[in-house]
Amino acid sequence: MRRVRIIGIGSGHPDQVTAEAAEAIRSVDFVIAAAKSDDDRLLAARREIAARHGDPEVVEVRDPERDRNDPADYTGAVIDWHEARAAAYEQVLAERDGDAAFLVWGDPMLYDSTIRVVERIAERANVTFAWDVLPGISSLQVLAARHRIVLHEVGQPTVITTGRRLAEAVGQGAENIAVMLDGRLACATLADQDQWRIWWGANLGTPTEALVAGRLDTVIDEIRTVRAEAREHSDWVMDTYLLRRTSGSRSA
Ligand SMILES: C[S@@+](CC[C@H](N)C(=O)[O-])C[C@H]1O[C@@H](n2cnc3c(N)ncnc32)[C@H](O)[C@@H]1O
Repeated sequence: MRRVRIIGIGSGHPDQVTAEAAEAIRSVDFVIAAAKSDDDRLLAARREIAARHGDPEVVEVRDPERDRNDPADYTGAVIDWHEARAAAYEQVLAERDGDAAFLVWGDPMLYDSTIRVVERIAERANVTFAWDVLPGISSLQVLAARHRIVLHEVGQPTVITTGRRLAEAVGQGAENIAVMLDGRLACATLADQDQWRIWWGANLGTPTEALVAGRLDTVIDEIRTVRAEAREHSDWVMDTYLLRRTSGSRSA
């Protein structure tokens, strides 16, 4: 049976493509890649990685627009968007023979919809295929490695959340919080900033990688500045960070 392979490709550096992922890319006939704009940097990065590993054809699919007008129904809007993506990818699979791959930024299990979308295509059963998932190096792993930290203290939990839901995690008492998808530096709006330590990283694995660490209230301005510089130097910025409550906490 033909295969659809969901392959994690790491978070920015070509060397982060594991040997297993490289072999999986070489094994497929084509790659399906969403294009979010005419100048989609993540698409360009995927093209580069495909070219390095067997050079399968990259079939570009214009990403359906997501309805961002109704913030109250965020989940509903995302489900509709997944449905539209499923239909678009299904069409590519129906039009072509052979094995296909999706090259997923970082790891497919973290804030990425490819697994859900492929599951949906499989359920619709208009095209038949077997599918598998190959892990990649997540930006969160790169963040921890660069700062040489563990994401939690001994035996403690870590909450992974988005900038949108940071306040909720803090309200629920989380003390180790990894934040992704935060275009607005939600940590800057926290109260009692002197009680949090932050390990922040932007454009990890790329030439404009930037790192800042320290007590939140003392480094937040530096993070804003460095973040703006990273954006200026490469036209884009993706950042992630770990927050740890320091008051009364144990050592790592
Ligand atoms: C849609 S999520 C994808 C996460 C991805 N699946 C992973 O495992 O890292 C995108 C978010 O991941 C984080 N991210 C991805 N690549 C990054 C990088 N190179 N440097 C810093 N953060 C990154 C940012 O928080 C960004 O908003």
